[in-house]
Amino acid sequence: MTENLSALEQAAAQPLPTSDELAESWTHIPSVNPTPVEKREEIFGHLGFGSDFTDHMAHAIFEEGKGWHTKLIEPYGPLTLDPAASVLHYGQEIFEGLKAYRHDDGSVWTFRPGYNAARLNASARRLAIPELPAEDFIASIVGLVRADEDWVPSAPGSSLYLRPFVLATEPFLGVRAAHKYDYLCIASPSGAYFTGGFEGINVWVSPDYHRAGPGGTGAAKSGGNYASSLVPKLEAKEEGYDEVCFLDAATNKNIDELGGMNVFVVYEDGSVATPKLTGNILEGGTRGVILRLLRDKNVDVSEATIPLAELVADIESGKVSEVFACGTAAVVTPIARLAGEGFDVSINVGDVTKSIYDQVTAIQLGHEPDPYNWTYKISA
Ligand code: COI
Repeated sequence: MTENLSALEQAAAQPLPTSDELAESWTHIPSVNPTPVEKREEIFGHLGFGSDFTDHMAHAIFEEGKGWHTKLIEPYGPLTLDPAASVLHYGQEIFEGLKAYRHDDGSVWTFRPGYNAARLNASARRLAIPELPAEDFIASIVGLVRADEDWVPSAPGSSLYLRPFVLATEPFLGVRAAHKYDYLCIASPSGAYFTGGFEGINVWVSPDYHRAGPGGTGAAKSGGNYASSLVPKLEAKEEGYDEVCFLDAATNKNIDELGGMNVFVVYEDGSVATPKLTGNILEGGTRGVILRLLRDKNVDVSEATIPLAELVADIESGKVSEVFACGTAAVVTPIARLAGEGFDVSINVGDVTKSIYDQVTAIQLGHEPDPYNWTYKISA
């Protein structure tokens, strides 16, 4: 049924080499000063999100005429960057997010790395950055996670968050695509993105800021989209909200996304909807997984235009029973309150959201069969 799949989903469905086939393709330079075991255990004792990093990183360089070269798994550390590096001036940067999970038998797996490889390249095309072959992307992940395998935590809700990214490093101040880039992947043992667990988050719908507009870079995973979300986020935080929901810039009427997460709406009749891909919102990997799982359970699920006014009225009338956010970092997180100019509604934290969370994480952790071939073994 590939004709119904997005270009990204089709690319993600391509067969991948195994981790054993890729493991040696990036050269490993081991850290001479690895983190002591006690220090790692201490970090594992208070896992937050994205604040501790492992001993190694993947690193490769692109130069025009040479392509991607010097593919290394090297000690984690600061980069040497020319102050004229064009990323510092014009923001030519893209990134990804995926996780490595420890299964009960001690083996380590990741989830849909082919999807992230394909999305990195979709972002690369929009930002005029050279594509990284999917095999290199996955080899970098396999090499890094194998080098830092002890850093994959096993506590419930924990994982090793992987952050691949590409930045323009050519020292040049003219406004054009750079001729030199670095690709890196760093790894961070992480717990829940939201500390409140399954209580649900409070979301402010921004009446005046947008994260991306028609023809812009909203569908790409690029730092600039996140930078533009920071002021609205700060302002919302001051009022006690956890996240900001952005409306589409063309009409300021329809739900787009939360900046770092997609949104799903669950209706009382059992149907489910999520904002359709307009080119302004990011096609989230978790979004695709949820759509697939629901469709295969014959749930009436649509990718649709969701007007804010309609959503608020439907929450008030009880037609909408649950709303949740999803993303790699946030997994599946209920939205318990939605407020904006002229409205403030509470939403039930319900069973549909919980069962979707359970199903997604059960596949990721190997607790349920994986008929989709989404899990990818990194090491035994
Ligand atoms: C992710 O979910 O992996 C993201 O990249 C969103 C956010 C943490 C930036």
